Amino acid sequence: MSLNLSVSWLGMKMSSPLFNASGVYCRTREELEQVRRSAAGAVVTKSCTLEPRAGNPEPRYRRTALGSINSMGLPNEGYRYYLDYAQAYDDAKPLFLSVSGMTLDDTLTILTELAALKLPCLPEVNLSCPNLPGKPQLGYDFAASAEALEAISRRYARPFGVKLPPYFDPAHFAAMAAVLNAFPLLRFVTCINSVGNGLVIDLDSESAVIKPKGGLGGLGGDYVLPTALANVREFAVLLADKHVIGCGGVKSGAEAFMHILAGATAVQVGTCLHEEGVSAFDRIEAELAAIMQAKGYQRLEDFRGRLKTL
Ligand code: SIN
Repeated sequence: MSLNLSVSWLGMKMSSPLFNASGVYCRTREELEQVRRSAAGAVVTKSCTLEPRAGNPEPRYRRTALGSINSMGLPNEGYRYYLDYAQAYDDAKPLFLSVSGMTLDDTLTILTELAALKLPCLPEVNLSCPNLPGKPQLGYDFAASAEALEAISRRYARPFGVKLPPYFDPAHFAAMAAVLNAFPLLRFVTCINSVGNGLVIDLDSESAVIKPKGGLGGLGGDYVLPTALANVREFAVLLADKHVIGCGGVKSGAEAFMHILAGATAVQVGTCLHEEGVSAFDRIEAELAAIMQAKGYQRLEDFRGRLKTL
């Protein structure tokens, strides 16, 4: 049986549904190139700000038995670095520019420049970084999110996407979906960013394991898979004419399959990529193909969004 794991969406073609989550293997040109040369189906940059940022004090990432906790604080090279990378980018593999201005004006400045350059790369506007001390996640403020999307749609008259924080209540899924559905240029949402402000404690030292924010940080990996799947599922249903990109807890073909079954168009890999490196893409793709073969599916469309409920 011949299998086809390619994805065509928004005029782009990905040979595999898997790519990196913003934040992992994407801060420097060298890291981005590793993803570009890997089996990943696309490449996304680190969320960029107007100016370069060193990020939060170390230690700011820790692997745990169930995944990871991080409070990186948006370390990045500044948006011009990523625009330069995008200008030189010459690959059929889609490129996404993750944007996370420290203010809405900063985000608009970055998007205005991106639009002027007419680069074939799609912005993923980050509404959900949980790691900026004193700055709440925009995606949890529905009115402020609507205001930001209004301004972005006015200034950047092209398709774009947003990265959302996890939501935990049907009322919040519905409220955010109502906001998102009002913006036709918003073509995709990435669900989810890390589950913000968890606390991992080391029993022996009786200490938090990361330094910023008194130890609070975003959780990824096994901790977040069911939350990620719920967000993918709910937004896939509520945002009928938009794409949902799944992110959270993918470490094998099984979780990638679940994200697509829940409705994901494509699937990002974060914690597992951080731990394993870009060879994770080959492995996960091969595992996904084996699951599809065993179930008799030839294409991702054969099962995408077809979650059964009891
Ligand atoms: C970070 O740099 O703190 C992570 C970015 C994010 O979670 O949006």
